[in-house]
Amino acid sequence: MQPLLRVEHLSITFASDAGQHTAVDDLSFSIDPGESLALVGESGSGKSVTALAILRLLDPRARGAGSIWFREQDWMRLAEHEMVARRGRDAAMVFQEPMTALNPVMSIGKQIAEAIRVHQRDLSRATVRKHAIEALESVSIPEPHLRFDDYPHQFSGGQRQRILIAMALVNRPSLIIADEPTTALDVTVQAQILDLLREMKERSNAALLFISHDLSVVAQIAQRVAVMRKGKIVEIAPCAQLFASPQHPYTRSLLAAVPTMHSNRNAPLAAAEAIGIMPEGPLVEVAPGHWTRVAE
Ligand SMILES: Nc1ncnc2c1ncn2[C@@H]1O[C@H](COP(=O)(O)OP(=O)(O)OP(=O)(O)O)[C@@H](O)[C@H]1O
Ligand SMILES: [Mg+2]
Repeated sequence: MQPLLRVEHLSITFASDAGQHTAVDDLSFSIDPGESLALVGESGSGKSVTALAILRLLDPRARGAGSIWFREQDWMRLAEHEMVARRGRDAAMVFQEPMTALNPVMSIGKQIAEAIRVHQRDLSRATVRKHAIEALESVSIPEPHLRFDDYPHQFSGGQRQRILIAMALVNRPSLIIADEPTTALDVTVQAQILDLLREMKERSNAALLFISHDLSVVAQIAQRVAVMRKGKIVEIAPCAQLFASPQHPYTRSLLAAVPTMHSNRNAPLAAAEAIGIMPEGPLVEVAPGHWTRVAE
């Protein structure tokens, strides 16, 4: 199978008065059609920068190198007007904070209708409205025809995140990028949004790039997990394999912080972990599809 997305040797650098800062450092991974891959790692490890780079939404001061192959096109090399035609249509993003991702002074119906019209200009007003109402219905907003003209502040946080998911899916993208989509929500609502995301992904057959710092959340949604540290992948493996047999000390330290049924919290820390050595050499395949960095 051809991967849907191939990120190859992606590096992103920010320049400031203090000098250069490399947020993403020679990063490579791929996602198959319909697959769900999670990116996990501590704050500042480069997860959001990676997501924004894929959709070319980074700050213009960011300098990028490498390739982002979406099917046969390298998105790093598309002109902006070509990228506008791809963004939201091939790949769409669900952000962490729905209140800032939605326009506070525009009704949600109008915002969804605009998202449809960007990519489907020939549709009549009535058809767009119908699609928008169906989109709200699909994410379980009650009485969507009555809520169409309401503004974001008239919805709960969980409902706003549902609306953002509806908006991301309205043009049937083949890739959904969800950056910490449940972090801003309380725990019971988090579980509902995860269920919704999983259901919508199944229904639309889309691939999912799911970003979180929380391994227990990732375990519920990802088929494969890539662990990031300082802009690099330190370990990547099928989800069950990563939980059952984590290789890199950094992955183990993340797992040790999560109470799960899989992790053995009583396992003694390996010597390398105990003294804080983090292997930063090449990625080596230790089992089929399971890669980890080893000492140089
Ligand atoms: N616009 C920017 N200008 C300068 N530096 C930036 C910018 N955006 C991100 N960075 C830097 O890039 C690095 C990676 O940031 P990123 O937002 O990708 O982290 P993250 O893994 O998503 O963390 P979190 O879990 O906190 O969301 C950080 O050191 C951050 O300060
Ligand atoms: Mg982030």
